[in-house]
Amino acid sequence: MKDFIYYAPTEVVFGKDSEQEVALLVKKYGGHKVLVHYGGGSAVRSGLLDKICSLLKEGGIETVLLGGVVPNPRLSKVHEGIALCKKEGVDFILSVGGGSVIDSAKAIACGVLYPGEVWDFYAGKADAEAYLPMGCVLTIPAAGSEMSDSSVITNEDGDIKVGYSNNLSRQKFAIMNPERTYTLPPYQTAAGVTDIMMHTMERYFSHDDDMTLTDAVAEAVLRTMKDCIFTVLKDPKDYRARAQIMWGGSLAHNDLTGCGTSGDWATHQLEHELSGMFDATHGAGLAAIWPSWARYVYKENVSRFVRFAVNVMDVPNDFTDPEGTALKGIEAMERFYHSIGMPINIPELIGKEITDEEIEEMVRKCSHDYSITQGQFKVLKPQDMLNIYRMAAGR
Ligand code: NZQ
Ligand code: ZN
Repeated sequence: MKDFIYYAPTEVVFGKDSEQEVALLVKKYGGHKVLVHYGGGSAVRSGLLDKICSLLKEGGIETVLLGGVVPNPRLSKVHEGIALCKKEGVDFILSVGGGSVIDSAKAIACGVLYPGEVWDFYAGKADAEAYLPMGCVLTIPAAGSEMSDSSVITNEDGDIKVGYSNNLSRQKFAIMNPERTYTLPPYQTAAGVTDIMMHTMERYFSHDDDMTLTDAVAEAVLRTMKDCIFTVLKDPKDYRARAQIMWGGSLAHNDLTGCGTSGDWATHQLEHELSGMFDATHGAGLAAIWPSWARYVYKENVSRFVRFAVNVMDVPNDFTDPEGTALKGIEAMERFYHSIGMPINIPELIGKEITDEEIEEMVRKCSHDYSITQGQFKVLKPQDMLNIYRMAAGR
């Protein structure tokens, strides 16, 4: 097991009616005037936004509203939020929504306190030294942003989607009521579970040994998500399954399943170019890339893929043919993706063929103009990225 620091400072308030605590929590963490940040309308339609605003008002907290965050959140909305927070003298940001809203809030929270351009942080030109305090009311388990240290923003100038990690961006609190996820459409539910599983798998596929406990936690998360997704697709109001998925989303990305491992993250990096260029749903984009990544890299450590096949995908272990077992695990994952309505390649994801020029453009962006590699399980050079994109494109 590698040395590690585990840092998960977010106060989680989980369960039915947990949003009742919102005013107390905002006050506890120093909020007097709050930017309530939300998305395209689901929180309005469900009545959650109204409820949160009423609770804050009853608690004597002033509110300023900013909605309209879209999936793959945009830099222009971040700029709008920064200007609004400065104008109104906001001292706390509350997100009501999913990863896109929370990520937008994280960018606003550091941008407000920075005299320069907030994109500097995402472009790697500066590091944020201060954030406004933030909390969230989570409505979709997927990105894990409620407990993670990162945010991912799309700059419309060039459709560049980039992540930025900073421990100061951790939420002070995360309110999670599984009942609030009952309204999620099946596609978003499945894409969310795919993302949750991928956050676990990015950490699981590593060459580190002696990770007995971390592997067991990861496999438990993966198996639980695999079971519960079918339950909620059949019955969206199954509280037990919705609750497992909601907590799974946080455990998958608060680094619990990364303790002692190196992690890979190539699938995520390859995917960000897809959702940045085609505005695809992030989780679905991961499903479109992973099988090609897996087939491209599995020979680097066949036994790891065998373990995944047997312990997660229930493939019988053929001790005479480890490669065959490993490949059966990848095939089983593809069948799983299809069974929950996820794509397994790029044409299925975007509904059309992708051109060679578009693939080349994604390679250029993913390799930062051919200057960096991605991944650790197999270190991917630009030519490897090209090969994987081409496989995922069906070339
Ligand atoms: O905008 P509204 O109307 O709210 O609709 C949203 C959105 O269309 C809808 N939705 C959310 N809660 C709902 C609901 N619809 C009905 N009922 C509810 N209860 O779901 C759609 C997707 O929402 P979004 O916030 O985009 O989803 P997600 O949480 O998957 O976030 C995706 C973003 O997070 C980034 C992704 O790249 C993507 O931009 N990620 C952030 C990470 C992080 N900060 O640590 C890590 C991840 O790997 C990921 O990259
Ligand atoms: Zn993700």
